[in-house]
Amino acid sequence: MTQTHSDALVFFGATGDLAYKKIFPSLQSMVKRGTLTVPIIGVAKAGWNLDQLKARAQDSLREHGGLDPAAWEKLCSLLRYVDGDYADPATFTAVKTALAGAQHPAHYLAIPPSLFEEVVDQLVHSGAAKGARMIVEKPFGHDLASAEELDRILLKAFPESSIFRIDHYLAKGPVQNMMSFRFSNSFMEPLWNRNHIESVQITMAEDFGVQGRGSFYDQTGTVRDVIQNHLFQLMCNLTMESPARNDSESIRDEKVKVLKAISPIQPADLVRGQFHGYLDEKGVAPDSKTETYAALRLNIQSWRWAGVPFYIRAGKNLPVTCTEVVARLRRPPATKYMEGELPQNQIRFRISPDMTISMCVSVLSDDGSGGRELEELIATRHPQPDNMEPYERVLTDAMSGDESLFARQDYVEEAWRIVDPVLKASTPIFPYAPQTWGPKEAESITPPGGWSDPVLTPTP
Ligand code: BG6
Repeated sequence: MTQTHSDALVFFGATGDLAYKKIFPSLQSMVKRGTLTVPIIGVAKAGWNLDQLKARAQDSLREHGGLDPAAWEKLCSLLRYVDGDYADPATFTAVKTALAGAQHPAHYLAIPPSLFEEVVDQLVHSGAAKGARMIVEKPFGHDLASAEELDRILLKAFPESSIFRIDHYLAKGPVQNMMSFRFSNSFMEPLWNRNHIESVQITMAEDFGVQGRGSFYDQTGTVRDVIQNHLFQLMCNLTMESPARNDSESIRDEKVKVLKAISPIQPADLVRGQFHGYLDEKGVAPDSKTETYAALRLNIQSWRWAGVPFYIRAGKNLPVTCTEVVARLRRPPATKYMEGELPQNQIRFRISPDMTISMCVSVLSDDGSGGRELEELIATRHPQPDNMEPYERVLTDAMSGDESLFARQDYVEEAWRIVDPVLKASTPIFPYAPQTWGPKEAESITPPGGWSDPVLTPTP
């Protein structure tokens, strides 16, 4: 289906952190690649003018990926700025004027969800919502009820097909490659199910803390920040059935089916931790019970996956920064020919910092003992300078109307349904030392055969 390309990009929160770290670098890359040629209107309440915004954008580019003189010049010619309060209709009249007749603008809300309703209402009253797309940032709500409320607000002005909920994990090449690998290699399908897979574990480790985002993080915690969205998406890419067609709805239908087959997580299946020192972070409540680490266990009760436990853990201030999945296969049987317990095969997908797919296979050791050892067959790709960063990918797709990499509302609600009750159960929070693999209490959530801690090798 041919989609209308957005003819302007308006981004709210232009002077904020996300704009600085991710949006300006993506805009420069889009301009450089030729995918962004329409007016770009930054909006914020900072008392700034366009020159100040440009200065900030320049700093952002220097710090995040580098300034490309030709692309920067082009970006400057497209950039406009509206300063004003989101409660003031004059701000939106100015936005409408800056749109200069654009018929299909894309409005990107890089602002806290508490401001959404005000901005959406003002966009409607000013006429700037007409024919427009809406791009929103995760987290989509705080729980199931607030996600439904957020949806109600957005649907007042935009149909579901015009709402683009960003989950930048979906735009990572290795995450997309996971599906491609599964469905384009004929040996995978016969293996990739309950008959052969014993357990699956997903680790998202970050070796840094909350990096000045204490007040956001303290309202959020690990489950809401990365598990309910990024890691569930990753799990869906790993476990969904092959979509019937290559359109966004066919793909998103299959993901929702995975979530529908998961029961809400029980308190015994979640362990939460908090690193020592978190309470001293700026913006964190002195008696905060927010988790900076979580490990959980769940089951997908589908024909393909019933009986295979899935383990997910994520945390700040862990020993490395790395996201990977390890699927362990059932052991081969001991026979009269090969007695004893044979090594277990495993398949590993690394999402970052590099893209790796590997298989551990059992080979005869070369020490002449007749024993066997596991050898890892590895395919690795390192990021290349001209690779599209996830934020560039999602903004490019949203501007062109391709919804495949965005979370649909039914998906978001299913994801909340799974974690909501256990988040409200106020399970205990256990301390852990920075640069360790979380609290010792998390041992109760350990995959058969243990966690496989990611090990990083230096980039060649
Ligand atoms: C964000 C979370 O969505 O994803 C952060 O809010 C997290 O807490 C980040 O660090 C990780 O993304 P990436 O792409 O750097 O792995």
